[in-house]
Amino acid sequence: MSEQINSMPRIGDIAPDFEAITTTGKLRFSDYNKDSWVIFFSHPADFTPVCTTEMTGFANEQESFFDQHNCKLMGLSIDSIHSHIAWVDNVRKNSGVLFKFPIVADIDMSVSKLWGMLQPGESETAAVRAVFFVDPTGKIRLIMYYPLNVGRNMEEIKRCLLALQTSDENKVAMPLNWEPGEKVIIPPPKTVEALLERNESGLEMMDFYLAKKLL
Ligand code: BEZ
Repeated sequence: MSEQINSMPRIGDIAPDFEAITTTGKLRFSDYNKDSWVIFFSHPADFTPVCTTEMTGFANEQESFFDQHNCKLMGLSIDSIHSHIAWVDNVRKNSGVLFKFPIVADIDMSVSKLWGMLQPGESETAAVRAVFFVDPTGKIRLIMYYPLNVGRNMEEIKRCLLALQTSDENKVAMPLNWEPGEKVIIPPPKTVEALLERNESGLEMMDFYLAKKLL
């Protein structure tokens, strides 16, 4: 697998499968993804400041938010398992926060290349800050990329997971800046009959193609 060339998974693709050594043991991605969402994120390096804040952010939300929304977490960096374990222990000793989710040790860069996390224009040796949202069918639904020097936004990551799940459950779309509890967009009518029904519906409507409702 170490000869893996760079690939770039896209929204709608099936998540590339792999088996790897992680901080919770050997894991196959497709097994970990069975029956639940997975947010798979890369960080540039262990023992670095921005990464420490981000991983702490994920750890702080694991039980209170991600577990509650059927979503598992998985991290990755191009570091050895020994480095990962030492860093996890260092953060635990310094802050009391334990990273319980698996962190992939990708020392040969095979997984980062397979998942498009290694973007050589940014760094030849460190993964960018990628976030892949993978649904329980194994499909990639949303991708974020951040450069090495800008940390991610946990509120946006949580909002995106809820937006995807709410959209799936209700067959609706989310408008600009949507937050949970706010009105959602109903898909445009597909027939004249549906259009006429919509005109009589009393929904909040700018025109036939932009109608909103509360769930
Ligand atoms: C950081 O996490 O602080 C970091 C990692 C790699 C490059 C720059 C910053």
